[in-house]
Amino acid sequence: VNVDADTPLLWFIRDTLEMTGTKFGCGMGLCGACTVHLNGQAVRSCITPVSAVEGQQITTIEGLSDGESLHPVQSAWVKHNVPQCGYCQPGQIMSASALLAGNSNPSDDDIDV
Ligand code: FES
Repeated sequence: VNVDADTPLLWFIRDTLEMTGTKFGCGMGLCGACTVHLNGQAVRSCITPVSAVEGQQITTIEGLSDGESLHPVQSAWVKHNVPQCGYCQPGQIMSASALLAGNSNPSDDDIDV
C-alpha cells in the first residue's frame, strides 16, 4: 500500500481498505471503539501507525467469524441481547474476543485491564 507511515491504522482500514466495521470514537486510545486484533492481541487502531504493523496479522470485526458461523463472542452478543446503538460493539467484541482467547475465565480485574 502507499500511505504515509504515520497514518493511523484505523484510517487505513476505513479509508484505504473501505472496511467500515472498525469505528472512530475518541481518536486518543481511550474509548476502544477502534479496537482490532494485531497478531491476536487487542490494539487501539486510532493510535497505532501503519508503520508499526507492517507484515503483521490484523483482524477486524469483518474477519472475526469464519464466514460460516459467528464467532462465539458474537453469538453471545446476540443470545444475551447486548446490542444497543451498535456503534461501539465492534470494538467491544474485538476486546472481549482477544481477552477470552488468552483467558477463558477472566476475573473482574482481568476484564478491567
Ligand atoms: S477511537 Fe477511541 S480508542 Fe480509538
